[in-house]
Amino acid sequence: GRILVLHGPNLNLLGVREPGHYGRQSLAEIDAMLAAQAQRWGLRLASFQSNAEHALIERIHAARGQTDCIIINPAAFTHTSVALRDALAAVAIPFIEIHLSNVHAREPFRRHSYFSDLALGVISGFGAHGYCLALDAARHFLQARQT
Ligand code: DQA
Repeated sequence: GRILVLHGPNLNLLGVREPGHYGRQSLAEIDAMLAAQAQRWGLRLASFQSNAEHALIERIHAARGQTDCIIINPAAFTHTSVALRDALAAVAIPFIEIHLSNVHAREPFRRHSYFSDLALGVISGFGAHGYCLALDAARHFLQARQT
């Protein structure tokens, strides 16, 4: 299985950014943890972060035919980006939506997502561990699809 992990805007600042919401682990640490787990499970994993909507859209387009499942934390674009939603719909790659914080326990504007109704599922509120949960969910999804 080929998995692409996409990190949206401001997630490059993980570790120092609002640790009460997003924890102390850096993005590099999260990516390293995912890479190690993917290797144990025999999955091929690529990860990409951008603060720019267009760069994330181009990366999604490039994944067409190259990726079996996407794990995406769209960050603030969760609540704003029809364009990113349309990109995922266009390439028709199954995806899992993940948030470090519990978006339902915060400001009301974080409750709406442009992604959740298209996602295989949503993980929110488990901090960096949520990425491990998402990778496990992707693995199970790909295994189930093979049989
Ligand atoms: C986030 C939640 C979003 O509301 C916020 O804009 C982020 C991070 C999360 O991982 O909890 O940047 O996606």
